[in-house]
Amino acid sequence: IMSRAFRHQFIIPEFESFSKEIEEIYWKCKSNNDGKVASYIPQLARMNPNYWGVSICTIDGQRFSLGDVNIPFTLQSCSKPLTYAIALDQLGEELVHRYVGQEPSGRNFNELILDHNKKPHNPMINAGAILVCALLKTLVKPEMTLAEKFDFTMNYFERLAGGEDLGFNNAIFLSEREAADRNYALGFYMREHKCYPEKTSFRECMDFYFQCCSMETNCDIVSVMGATLANGGICPLTEEKVLGSESVRDVLSLMHSCGMYDYSGQFAFKVGLPAKSGVCGGLLVVIPNVMGICTWSPPLDALGNSCRGVQFCEELVKKFNFHRY
Ligand code: DON
Repeated sequence: IMSRAFRHQFIIPEFESFSKEIEEIYWKCKSNNDGKVASYIPQLARMNPNYWGVSICTIDGQRFSLGDVNIPFTLQSCSKPLTYAIALDQLGEELVHRYVGQEPSGRNFNELILDHNKKPHNPMINAGAILVCALLKTLVKPEMTLAEKFDFTMNYFERLAGGEDLGFNNAIFLSEREAADRNYALGFYMREHKCYPEKTSFRECMDFYFQCCSMETNCDIVSVMGATLANGGICPLTEEKVLGSESVRDVLSLMHSCGMYDYSGQFAFKVGLPAKSGVCGGLLVVIPNVMGICTWSPPLDALGNSCRGVQFCEELVKKFNFHRY
């Protein structure tokens, strides 16, 4: 890294002036007061709508952050691309996609539907993510208990984040599980259609899904995860190869087409970058071969995406040539 610095060979050579531009977008989005914080569980309903943080980590480890970047929030649906990545890495694409498709559903993230093969549409919506949790629990190192599998998964997430410790929000986990009628309905509907691998423990699979959603991070940490995905699976801070490059390609493809709920098509059109949002207000954005970005702001639009986060991305591609096309 030092020798590249001396030769001015960083991917963003003028990082300071780039950061100033990001700062301008940050302040512009801060005055956006649209949206409402999630209200389906009390722990999320109490979140301060003014929180607003942006963190950036390039593939060569240059970092910049602004605002509420160290305040913990739960990953929620931002865990979906990560669990999917682990499943791909451990089981291979062919096996994983025997169980889950690659099409956007065109419906809400928790809609009670399966595709024409009676498989969940993709791993980025609830049905698909619950199924990926079943694959991780049942087929990856099946001798592990749920406790061990939790540690195994958290350890993977931490390595994606350059070794930063993640937390776990038990109150959110317990509330999620209490307020999960739709997720249980999806889970049972998939069981009715024999979507799970043999020997899946339904109860453990659902708990595992809620646990992954309840892992706690912050903007700075998630931006490093994004940078690892931008860098073909090699964490820029530790230089550890955490994921195979084929797995990363698959994850980014489906984040691109399915990562923003029922706004995915418009987002792909306007912003043209793989991204995944969560109900906590987090947004993980990847600029392949350049950087990972995390924005966090709790107020959500009608489709469930962070209002300031989406605005940030739209402003970003107005200023910079990051749209894939
Ligand atoms: O499964 C759920 O309903 C939430 N725990 C997580 C989903 C999520 O983040 C999707 N959000 N809009």
